[in-house]
Amino acid sequence: MNEYLSPSFPTMRLRRLRKNAALRNMFRETSLSKNDFVFPLFIVEGNNKKKEIASMPNIFQMSVDAAVRECEELLNLGIKAVILFGIPERKDEKGSGAYAENGIIQKAIKGIKRSFPEMLVITDVCLCEYTSHGHCGVFENGDVANDATLELLVKEALSHAQSGADIIAPSDMMDGRIGKIRQILDENNFTDVPIMAYSAKYASAFYGPFREAAESAPQFGDRKSYQMDAGNSDEAMREIAQDIAEGVDIVMVKPALAYLDIIRRAKDEFNLPVAAYNVSGEYAMIKAAGANGWIDEERAMMEMLLSIKRAGADVIITYFAKDAARLI
Ligand code: PBG
Repeated sequence: MNEYLSPSFPTMRLRRLRKNAALRNMFRETSLSKNDFVFPLFIVEGNNKKKEIASMPNIFQMSVDAAVRECEELLNLGIKAVILFGIPERKDEKGSGAYAENGIIQKAIKGIKRSFPEMLVITDVCLCEYTSHGHCGVFENGDVANDATLELLVKEALSHAQSGADIIAPSDMMDGRIGKIRQILDENNFTDVPIMAYSAKYASAFYGPFREAAESAPQFGDRKSYQMDAGNSDEAMREIAQDIAEGVDIVMVKPALAYLDIIRRAKDEFNLPVAAYNVSGEYAMIKAAGANGWIDEERAMMEMLLSIKRAGADVIITYFAKDAARLI
């Protein structure tokens, strides 16, 4: 800042530009757009199923047909992107439902793209929803085995692309997954399918409600040997740098609210689109406080989303997408 150009009080009065709504609107530095939002969908087997998640009011597990109807509503609201999570009927040690040709996500992608080819379908690539133990990879000698898990993740990513996914989003936090996934996509002529990596994904308490929604809570232990430690920021930059070296297109920081500094640092240090995941716990907190009349739910929601954008996110994955779109 150039001090010579900055007169101080009483010549300068910063309140001048806050005087009325027209001024405030004109000089607002950050604004939200419906183009920023991605809405998460939880897909279950069956027909005409829609079951609300107890800890996430207004968010549902849905069968494919219901998800297709949901996409119509989203498009009508101006939301053009979804991220899919699958809840298979059967789980096993190796999460085989994740890469089954007729798996739940594979069916959902095809169903949505058939009815709404313009809808951007992003798929979460991870094994935790498909493994009987609920961990994000294959379990060996008391921990998730990195390299053995990579073999399965590439199969999952490829089968999503073959089913018509527009963007592949690996959320497992195994080392080396981005390079392996880029390689298998390229070898199979999916050179134009982007990868949006959950690059800086923290081991967070804020995923609680999601694990109910996706029925993916670990049956023992926790995810701390693969997801990041909450105290680390330099390490997040190393994770992002690795993913860039391996060919990532969009990097993600997750959760959003407790990690706004990481979003800002990623934006400042790397010349790449940044996504932020406004996670289930962040949604549940505002919904619960709003339902109790303890905060103004709409205002708190918009303020939170704006803060994520202001921190530097280009894309916001959020359960609030529909509520916010109605206010934009
Ligand atoms: C899968 C995955 C999780 C979330 C997104 N992908 C859960 C986890 O890592 O335990 C959480 C999203 C949310 O809380 O809204 N690994």
